[in-house]
Amino acid sequence: TIYFGRFISTPQPVELLIRVGAVLVDRNDGKGVIEKADWTVRDPKDAISKFGVDAPVITTKENGFFFPGFIDSHIHASQYPNVGIFGKSTLLDWLTTYTFPLESSLGNPKSPMYKDAVEPPNPLARANAVYNRVVSRTLANGTTTASYYATIHVDATNLLADVAFAKGQRAYIGRVCMDQPETCPDYYRDESTEETIAKTKASIEHCKSLDPSGELLAHIITPRFAPSCLPETLSRLGALAQEQDLRVQTHISENLNEVKLVKQMFPDQATYTDVYDHHGLLTPRTILAHAVHLSKDEMKLIKEKKTKISHCPASNSALGSGFCPVRVMLDEGLEVGLGTDVSGGYSTSILDAVRNACMVSRHVGYVNGGDSRYNLGVAEGLWLATVGGAKVVGMEGRLGGFEEGMLWDVQEIVLGDVDSRGEGDNTEVDIFGWETWENRVDKWVWNGDDRNVRRVWVGGRLVHERR
Ligand code: GUN
Ligand code: FE
Repeated sequence: TIYFGRFISTPQPVELLIRVGAVLVDRNDGKGVIEKADWTVRDPKDAISKFGVDAPVITTKENGFFFPGFIDSHIHASQYPNVGIFGKSTLLDWLTTYTFPLESSLGNPKSPMYKDAVEPPNPLARANAVYNRVVSRTLANGTTTASYYATIHVDATNLLADVAFAKGQRAYIGRVCMDQPETCPDYYRDESTEETIAKTKASIEHCKSLDPSGELLAHIITPRFAPSCLPETLSRLGALAQEQDLRVQTHISENLNEVKLVKQMFPDQATYTDVYDHHGLLTPRTILAHAVHLSKDEMKLIKEKKTKISHCPASNSALGSGFCPVRVMLDEGLEVGLGTDVSGGYSTSILDAVRNACMVSRHVGYVNGGDSRYNLGVAEGLWLATVGGAKVVGMEGRLGGFEEGMLWDVQEIVLGDVDSRGEGDNTEVDIFGWETWENRVDKWVWNGDDRNVRRVWVGGRLVHERR
């Protein structure tokens, strides 16, 4: 297939790269790789003769462009029914009030969510509904790759893998590991390290059976966070990740009370980062979500280990977790991507995460004496959502751009379909004909949503089309 039209991307964080041209994508290999790119053609017919193949041509609209698919490096699929429901809670009471009851309901008929149920509970049917919706919803928002947390239940976790794979989203699937009785409720935890490891292995095997290459779908080892796991479990999960060369995801230093709890529970380690390092979990394939309250020394250790960070700005604001200093992390040389952190975050949209990342960076600048050096620009936010995310999920150079050899994981964006009654999408552009494409992308970031996402492809497969 040939894709022709306007292509916008962010190979560098400082500015948008805006090009007109065509790319040739080979779908026959089943992967959807960009074989050739040509930034001189100005007509779809030229593209056919330039590439020397008689392939179908897909063209962007005049008011549209191709943009690399978004990478959500931290999202709890199981928490989707709770988006927007968090009241005034902060992390630790949010977990016990809203999150553990909901998550448990996807596998445990004795979940507190079922205490007033009239019908007999059917947790797996519930998981099926939740997972179908969240994968569809993230695809509709242009998320082509997602690193998911499911729940502790093997059946439901494997179902999430089935759903993501069937819908064609690139996905890393985490069975949540939690077996620490001091912090996890009786109705929602594994009984032992052995159970945790056995159940994790069962889910690894299921993911491998769906996609032996691990390119489109793979398991990701998921200790929920240090306080929810027995120390022995953390070590065993670290060893398992190394043995099977798997990605790892967890939370770190999100909230000050959580940091205090980790200090109490792990008195032998100096910092939260040391806890993960001590248990073999600080790997180049590990994604640490939040990282709001890290010290400079912790950042240095994370950099040394080439461990990745998922910045979750909407969640950090919604749960009052704090101001994550992304500029400092980037200056320290850390690799950072964006996460929605549904449902600590209230939105499934990575475009909204870009917006929130820009916003909170200004608050960071304010608390540091009003220094605009901390501000993230729109291009930088989009870079975090694509190129940054690609680094975080270990797909640097394969995702996040339009260069030859990269995968066709792409969204087609259309702007300004608004009528004179003000109905349509929320990005009225170029009323007077003076806007640049940079201006239009600014408008997309600050006011856009899923109405601007016309089509989405993963590995060259069309996985969403807006009606
Ligand atoms: N820390 C431990 N579990 C969670 C979770 O589900 N969401 C967030 N935001 N932080 C956590
Ligand atoms: Fe989270």
